[in-house]
Amino acid sequence: MRIVITRRRFITAAGLTTVGLFVGACGGPPPAAVGPSHPLISERERQRRRNGATPTEMRLVAASGPVEVAGGSLTSWAYNGSVPGPEIRLRAGEVLAATLVNQLPQPTSIHWHGIALRNDMDGVPGLTQPPIEPGEEFRYEFVAPHPGTYFFHPHVGVQLDRGLYAPLVVEDPREPGDYDLEAVIVLDDWTDGIGEDPDTILSSLSEAGMPGMDHGEMGVDSGMSPDMTEESYGGDVTYPLYLVNGRSSEAPHVVEARPGQRVRLRVINAGSDTAFRLALGGHRLTVTHSDGFPVEPVEVDALIVGMGERYDLVTTLADGVFPLAAVAEGKGVQTFAVVKTGSGELPPGNVPVAELSRRLLTPDDLRARADVAFPTGEPDVIVPLELGGDMMAYRWTINGRTFNEADPIEVTEGRRIRLAFSNRSTMFHPMHLHGHTFQVVRNDGAPGARKDTLIVLPGQDIAVDVDTDNPGAWALHCHNIYHAEAGMMTVMQYVL
Ligand code: C2O
Ligand code: CU
Repeated sequence: MRIVITRRRFITAAGLTTVGLFVGACGGPPPAAVGPSHPLISERERQRRRNGATPTEMRLVAASGPVEVAGGSLTSWAYNGSVPGPEIRLRAGEVLAATLVNQLPQPTSIHWHGIALRNDMDGVPGLTQPPIEPGEEFRYEFVAPHPGTYFFHPHVGVQLDRGLYAPLVVEDPREPGDYDLEAVIVLDDWTDGIGEDPDTILSSLSEAGMPGMDHGEMGVDSGMSPDMTEESYGGDVTYPLYLVNGRSSEAPHVVEARPGQRVRLRVINAGSDTAFRLALGGHRLTVTHSDGFPVEPVEVDALIVGMGERYDLVTTLADGVFPLAAVAEGKGVQTFAVVKTGSGELPPGNVPVAELSRRLLTPDDLRARADVAFPTGEPDVIVPLELGGDMMAYRWTINGRTFNEADPIEVTEGRRIRLAFSNRSTMFHPMHLHGHTFQVVRNDGAPGARKDTLIVLPGQDIAVDVDTDNPGAWALHCHNIYHAEAGMMTVMQYVL
């Protein structure tokens, strides 16, 4: 997300042909990169766009100013003055037209996380658009093709770790609607305006590294089996606050409902360095969607939500006042929202929630629902992606290279590509691919969950399959925003 444009990347972004220019004489024609300005991008958008669709118009002002966080007022950067920013809702197939006004002291952009949109609206400065400078505005306009729970945030520096994030819900016009009410639950780790600001944190991490920390690259064996314990989590940053919908447990967000109602929770982790373990006191949760896409329903007590991941959960509410607990995994701090269907006191901040340590969702529990599952089988291409880190230098890599050093992964359209992650560092990395929803490869051959962000635990080898059906230049990176900024990012580049 650093805005450094190497010559090669700039040329790619401009959609020109240079790759293989000098070898053209000895082989076939050189592959032409399909960048954001390639005519194919608008041609595909025309096919996606229904006749007569009127865009949902939005104005988003990104500015520094007072915001209400954790029941008090502090100064941060936010959209339209609120944390989270304004929720956007539209139906699948509809057009969103959002004008971003940049009143921040830095260039910015908006990335529509998880949406398979046209490449030139993906919001990655230096790759899909020029940065939006302070005082400028930019109009994003695109079809949202698939229903689901998404969110949006800047794709510049560590701006996501301020208050610049908001939910984006794409409703399914064909939804069977097996629930009575919805609650959007946005989780976040918070420091800006109360602790150090994110830019200062990033520079001290990169200047000092993390001496004394023993995570990072330590030659983890490829055979080591990752275990889903707290030790596999933890992060690089200590936060003074953890938030649910901008509030903390002293003055929690309250979901009001009636006993017996079925609630659909749309959970989004907008944190920058924190995975959250989530559970609802007194209830089990049925997982219905992962990163917007339906899965075969599975009932659990608790689940871990990595940065950039979303889960939709359904449950039938009992009578009373219940904590919806979110524990910063590996950091030992609990916050919560409250689900209230009856009378009773609000629970104390440290209320024990037994469900947190009961049956935890594992990736092996999830299978894509038949209507969204890819047929399983051998992919056309396998791309090995080794995740590494040097904690002393605070340098995070994919195949040994940082973003600025990496060559793009070149793909052609109409293929099935297997991204084979192997984590050789001792930290977890939620890996996110733009513009696509991949499918997790399971050992038993069943189709795994469709997702766009996947936690890769320390020592873990795990693969996902992608259908290359959305031409462009797409970022692929760790959604720990500090890791992404310190190099753990590359590009999946379509070529003709
Ligand atoms: Cu939400 Cu490139 O990220
Ligand atoms: Cu990471």
